[in-house]
Amino acid sequence: MKVTIFGSGYVGLVTGACLAEVGNDVVCIDIDAGKIQRLNQGEVPIYEPGLDTIIKRNMAAGRLQFTTDVDLGVSHGLFQFIAVGTPPDEDGSADLQYVLAVARSIGERMRDYRVIVNKSTVPVGTADKVRGAVGEVLARRGAAIEFDVVSNPEFLKEGAAIEDFMKPDRIVVGTDNPRTTELLRALYAPFNRSHDRMVCMDIRSAELTKYAANAMLATKISFMNELANLAERLGADIEKVRVGIGSDPRIGYHFIYPGCGYGGSCFPKDVKALERTARDVGYPAPLLQAVEAVNDRQKEKLFEKISAYFGGDLAGRTIAVWGLAFKPNTDDMREAPSRTLMEALWRAGAKVRAFDPVAREEAHRLYGERADLILCDSPESALQGADALAVVTEWNVFRSPDFDEIRHTLTRPAVFDGRNIYDPAHMKAQGFDYFAIGRGT
Ligand code: UGA
Repeated sequence: MKVTIFGSGYVGLVTGACLAEVGNDVVCIDIDAGKIQRLNQGEVPIYEPGLDTIIKRNMAAGRLQFTTDVDLGVSHGLFQFIAVGTPPDEDGSADLQYVLAVARSIGERMRDYRVIVNKSTVPVGTADKVRGAVGEVLARRGAAIEFDVVSNPEFLKEGAAIEDFMKPDRIVVGTDNPRTTELLRALYAPFNRSHDRMVCMDIRSAELTKYAANAMLATKISFMNELANLAERLGADIEKVRVGIGSDPRIGYHFIYPGCGYGGSCFPKDVKALERTARDVGYPAPLLQAVEAVNDRQKEKLFEKISAYFGGDLAGRTIAVWGLAFKPNTDDMREAPSRTLMEALWRAGAKVRAFDPVAREEAHRLYGERADLILCDSPESALQGADALAVVTEWNVFRSPDFDEIRHTLTRPAVFDGRNIYDPAHMKAQGFDYFAIGRGT
């Protein structure tokens, strides 16, 4: 089938590459000519395991092309996917200007029936706006061409996006026209084999489903972080509590890991946007507000613990930071807890020696050259001359380090574990001053 994808960012690239991989003929469009040029030279602009190989294989097979040519894109695909960004406005609501600009471009150029598929995470009601924008342009052209708008939100996790796309838990399709359900069923057939994973519903419910999923996961995390803070004060161990409640299948083990807060491009943005949508319809959404407030506070936790340990005086201290990405297997530092920590350390006059297996360049891009940030090329080198160690991202390489080396290298035997990856008893037995999240310290 012929597919056009507008937006060659994270979602667009994964969608385009995976749809090409199963034999579709895919054209990916972006307005950033530099990005398209780099993609055509085989350079993939994001770090995502497996993506690079799939892109190259399908480009070589002639099933995947990258272009800035919108005319080509609109004439090519029966399916016109919109996968452009929806950055938050100042007030937290999603900025739809890019989505609506694509809708208008499609309306200006389409000559026959098109299925316009919203893949970007967009507020409830956006499909109606897309329909309105396309309809307006067609009316201006005096063109009576049929089209449908579908909401088909994605549920990809960074670091596991290919796997998530290839083997989805569910494929949510929101439509008001049965013919589009059948078209999408055919497009997704290769990903929908062992049992029917397509969940069909009306458009608004599909749009809300995406926010509901992310808000629910963020709520689980903030709930556990709140309990962790309580456990600290009560002398309980949140990790024991986690296993104790996770064993109840109604609760489950997933997404109940306490830590130094959630980050990334999705949870913080989507919780805020849903809160904003709720306010717009006259509902203050107190639970969503609390989820966000708890997370904002949680991102301060590591700094508070480090500052307390050094008696509130961090001027001239050096802290080793292990992990900069908002989670393992990505170089993404958007809303990462590491940023909150480093920025607080800098304000307090401390220096940071940081190591991350892949986010080093991203950190350099964000912060540039500065005297109080040394980006190191190994975990050991980050420890050199540092007074204490903070673990912010649970990359596997940090899970069983040489503890003797850590203790001998740091000027103080202090480890602040923002992801609870070490065993407190083991750390104490080794002579560390060990601080975790919700484990009695
Ligand atoms: C999230 C969702 O998991 C995807 O299903 C969704 O498609 C995506 O957002 C999106 O809307 O595009 P992602 O942002 O890649 O995916 O990251 P997650 O793996 O969900 O992690 C988010 C944050 O929660 C990370 O900072 C992680 O460290 C934190 N987290 C996760 C915890 O603190 N505790 C947990 O138990 C789980």
